[in-house]
Amino acid sequence: MWKQAIDDAVEKVRRNMLKFGDGFPHVGQQGSYSGYLNPNNEWTSGFWSGMLWLSYEYTKDSVFRDAAGRTVESFKQRLIRNDAIEHHDIGFLYTLSSKAQWMIENDEAAKQLTVQAAKKLCGRWREQGGYIQAWGPLGCPEQGGRIIIDCLMNLPLLYWASQTTGEARFADIAAAQAELSRRYLVRGDDSSYHTFYFDQETGEPIGGATAQGYRQGSTWTRGQAWGVYGFALSYRYTGNVQFLDTSKRMARYFLTHLPEDHVAYWDFDVPVQAGTYRDSSASAIVCAGLLELLEQQPDGDPDREWLRLGLERSLRSLTERYATIGQPEAEGLLLHGSYSVRGNNAPDDYMIWGDYYYLEALLRIECGIKGYW
Ligand code: GLY
Repeated sequence: MWKQAIDDAVEKVRRNMLKFGDGFPHVGQQGSYSGYLNPNNEWTSGFWSGMLWLSYEYTKDSVFRDAAGRTVESFKQRLIRNDAIEHHDIGFLYTLSSKAQWMIENDEAAKQLTVQAAKKLCGRWREQGGYIQAWGPLGCPEQGGRIIIDCLMNLPLLYWASQTTGEARFADIAAAQAELSRRYLVRGDDSSYHTFYFDQETGEPIGGATAQGYRQGSTWTRGQAWGVYGFALSYRYTGNVQFLDTSKRMARYFLTHLPEDHVAYWDFDVPVQAGTYRDSSASAIVCAGLLELLEQQPDGDPDREWLRLGLERSLRSLTERYATIGQPEAEGLLLHGSYSVRGNNAPDDYMIWGDYYYLEALLRIECGIKGYW
């Protein structure tokens, strides 16, 4: 069953590759990626690169490799131009492009590019407050004291850079950011804030706030998903069991707050009525995160059963109810993702990261191809 889903997905990547040319998909608009491509200036551009690398690993077809290689060149130029990388999502961008190339081909230039990207991300470390500033110019009054939970997925780039260069600073920053996120973004009931503010000068905590969630204090589904996978990855790199525990607790919250079909609405606190939007991308991220957690649980660990069941139910539902299997003209892999519901920006459409994590999860469960985190 997973195999059929993978083959369908990879054929869509193949068709899209021809349609997209040098453009990068971001989110769908009325079911179209190709009408809204960007020249590699979005926080999401790495996901397309990652899908090309995954497709190459699965098929060994050099046409995917060549297209993926061209995206890495584009990411190299982006770093040189310093174009649209003044934010923390450098991890998403370079992990799935140049780091993927280094992992697959042992390419020295790709490695050096990835280290440069990690240095750039470290430039957002705010020494005085002790955090990575997510958005906006460094020190700006509105965003200068803000961290966001999504950042957890940017940290593997830094852990990797320490392993690769032997310089501890990258991993020190990553571990400090993960610990701060654990303390302030995750709440006592294992739900989460999307973002949190600190005093820029002293680092004193101010309070949680949402950006894309339903209301202040609500649990934005995708933020919770970033936490599940992100903390699991911080555990992989640091061995700190508090990160493992936090990931599992957030996963349990996610899975026990799902509707009957096991795919999340866009916020766990949104009143559910007919037509309430889903976020299939959040469920795809969690599937990939549950696979990471399962790998970290020793055989016989009692948590394996609910993790396995949660994965099976969510991935099956995505595949059977949300995937565009059998619709060869569809550009996206997963229907019903939501980017920003309150902002009315693609509230119910394809999300390129949803497609990426769905493919990553399918390939990991079926073939052991793990992605590039
Ligand atoms: N990282 C931005 C988002 O998840 O929409």
